[in-house]
Order: sequence, then structure tokens, then C-alpha cells
Amino acid sequence: MKNIMVTGGCGFIGSNFIRYLLTAPDFKKDMRIINVDKLTYAGNRESLDGISEAFTGQYVFVQADICDRQAMEKVFGEFEIDTVCHFAAESHVDRSIVEPDAFVQTNIMGTFNLLDLFRAGKDRMFLFHHVSTDEVFGSLGKFGHFTETTPYNPSSPYSASKASSDHLVRAYTHTFAIPTTLSNCSNNYGPYQYPEKLIPLMILNAIEGKKLPVYGKGFNIRDWLYVKDHCRGIWEIMNRGKRGETYNIGGDCEKQNIEVVFMICDILDGMEPLKNGRPRRELVEFVDDKKLRPGHDFRYAIDFSKIQVELGWAPEESFKTGLEKTIRWYLDHPNWVNLVQKKCGEWLRRHYKGDEPPRWNNVN
Ligand code: NAD
Ligand code: DAU
Repeated sequence: MKNIMVTGGCGFIGSNFIRYLLTAPDFKKDMRIINVDKLTYAGNRESLDGISEAFTGQYVFVQADICDRQAMEKVFGEFEIDTVCHFAAESHVDRSIVEPDAFVQTNIMGTFNLLDLFRAGKDRMFLFHHVSTDEVFGSLGKFGHFTETTPYNPSSPYSASKASSDHLVRAYTHTFAIPTTLSNCSNNYGPYQYPEKLIPLMILNAIEGKKLPVYGKGFNIRDWLYVKDHCRGIWEIMNRGKRGETYNIGGDCEKQNIEVVFMICDILDGMEPLKNGRPRRELVEFVDDKKLRPGHDFRYAIDFSKIQVELGWAPEESFKTGLEKTIRWYLDHPNWVNLVQKKCGEWLRRHYKGDEPPRWNNVN
């Protein structure tokens, strides 16, 4: 690995991954990261502030769309790419229900472009790592866990587009014998997550004393993983994972949404009580998920024994400490928050096709 193309490096996990890699002990001096990002509403160069200056020669940013074949061909050639770690995607389930087009384009066609260019340069290529989600498996009932052999059964346009991209990766591996690895991970949380997702949305609303919109009764279950643990898992797979293999990554941390929201309320009440002295749990408002998220998956849970046994990976951060760190991070970074909310609002207004204004929260 010398020239590593990281797609979507200005997003939540991508930016955390770049930060993680540049300071990882086994990231060698002659390695270089080429961050390729279109900068959609979800991409922010500010999430990597100071990185180009601190790591001159080891980090390059290219603003480009992975769906733009010519632009991607140029990046592969100009930077002599030998490794790809592919994060770039449209990632929010609610948006995929309202406007699925971009999900099909970026998640399927974008992945296809990258795979096809990688295949064309096969002889000099080291690895294509595809970052995917546990949502491709669909929803679990009360019992059981997703394993690497659970059949795909995606529910939303987002998860269907990610499932499609996974199939393309496997088909290219099988047909063209290219070196790939794939990971399916559960819900991440941590710094730099765009506040359309449950945890950052609840943190920011709770800081300001705004309503906390919980879908349904808040009984749906997600398996939470601190983002740095995910980044470490991906890097382990890239270094030591078996080519052609898939690895599940999870947090062993199943929580009902309402539990998560109450934890956020209680931690914040301890850190910064509301001026009126009221407990933040009173801000919870149950909203109709049939409108906001029809087909809402009930439960995700990951069996990550394969990566644990083969590569010795396991989550390190506990949910309580991870959540406390995350809340502290959002309290300490009001400039980042204001900036991304403003930029996102502008981007959505420019790109929104319908008559209604964007209904996603936290848009200024
Ligand atoms: P994100 O929405 O925060 O970031 C996505 C990034 O991709 C943004 O920087 C955006 O500008 C960029 N991007 C979007 N379309 C692009 C295009 N056409 N060309 C180039 N760049 C483009 O997403 P995230 O939460 O960081 O997720 C990253 C990846 O991890 C996704 O593939 C997602 O499916 C996967 N994943 C996410 C989670 C999670 O909990 N967030 C869990 C498992 C897997
Ligand atoms: O499981 C991995 C997936 O996790 C990733 O592939 C996705 O990119 C990522 O967005 C995430 O998907 P979810 O749909 O699980 O995450 P989200 O934060 O949108 O919602 C988590 C749960 O919280 C879900 O049951 C819906 C609920 N929810 C969400 C929002 C935004 C609420 O109750 N209120 C909200 O306002």
C-alpha cells in the first residue's frame, strides 16, 4: 500500500478514518492518502482542518464525484493509486425514502466506476476495500445476529443500493480475480457525524432544549460502535484480512433508541443543566415513524466473531464513555456545528427537487 485512495473522506467515518490512519503506528512515511470527495451536504473539509498542513506529502484532497468516470480515471493515473478504501455514499435512510435517485447513482454507479477502473489497472493494484453496512441483511426479530452468511434482505432504498454495491464487489472479485475485502458494520457514533443521524441530532437538540423526535415508541434496536473502533477494524482488515472475504464489524452494544436518547439527556443534564432546571427527558416527543420511516427496520445485531478470531479485533470503547466523549466533542465544537448546518441548508435548498423545503432537522 502506497497511494491509498479514500473516497468520502470528508464525511463522518471517512474523516475519522483519515485522522486515525495518519497517526497509526503502522502508517508508514512513504504512504499517501488521496481523499476523493464530491463535498455533498454531508461532506466537510472542515472535518479535516489542519491535516494538509500537519501531514504535507502524506495527504492530498481532490474534490470529485465518483460517478464521474473521467475524473476518477484521472485520479487513478495521476496519483498512481494502488489501494482504495471506499466510503463515499449517500448514507441517510430517511433521505433515501424521499429522494432515492442519488443513492442509486452514487452507491451503485459510483462503486461500479471505481471497481471497473481498479480492474483496468489490476496488475499494479494492492487492495479494494469496500465499506458497507449491516442494513443489507434487513431486520432481525427479537433474537439472532447477522453473520457473514446471513442472506441479503434490504428494506430501504439506501440499504438496497448498498446491497447492490456489495454484490458488484463480490462479482468483480469472482469474475476478474481482483484483490478485495468487504466489511459490514453496525451503527457508528462519535465526532464529526452530521446531525441528521439519531445521536448527533439528539445531542444538538438536547443542548438547545429543543424537542427530541423519537420514531414510534423508541423500541427499535440498533447495535452501536464508537467510530474509532470501526476505523481500527477497517485498517486491520486492509492489512491482514483475507482477500475476497467479508467481515462483520459490530459493537456488542444493542440498545433501544429510547434508551440511547435518555442516556444523552442524563449525561447532558450532568454536564450542562438546562437553564430552567428541567430534566431533558421531558423534551422527548414520539413521532409517527410510518410517515418518516415507512418500513422501519426493528432490530440490528452483529456477530463479529470472524474478525475477532481471525484478526483479533474487538470494540474497545464502552458505550457510556464513547457517548460522554461524543457529547463533550459537540459541546466543544460549536463552530463546526454552525458551519455544517448552514452549509447543509444551502446545499439542500440548491438540490432539493420537490416543492416543500427540506424537512430534515437542524438545517439553518
Ligand atoms: P456520510 O454521509 O457522513 O459521508 C459520506 C461522504 O461521501 C461525504 O463526505 C460525501 O460528500 C461523500 N460523497 C457522497 N457522494 C459522493 C460522490 N458521488 N462522490 C464522491 N464523494 C461523495 O457517511 P458516513 O456515515 O461517514 O458513511 C460512510 C460509509 O460507511 C458509507 O458507505 C456507509 O454506507 C458506511 N456505513 C456507515 C455507517 C454509519 O453508522 N454511519 C455504518 C456502517 C457503514
Ligand atoms: O446500521 C448501519 C447504518 O446505521 C448505516 O448504514 C447508515 O448509514 C446510518 O445512517 C445508520 O442507519 P440508521 O437508520 O440505523 O441510523 P439513524 O441514526 O438514522 O437512526 C437510528 C435509529 O433512530 C432508527 O431506528 C431511527 C431512529 N431515529 C432516527 C432519527 C434521525 C429516531 O427515532 N429519530 C430521529 O430523529
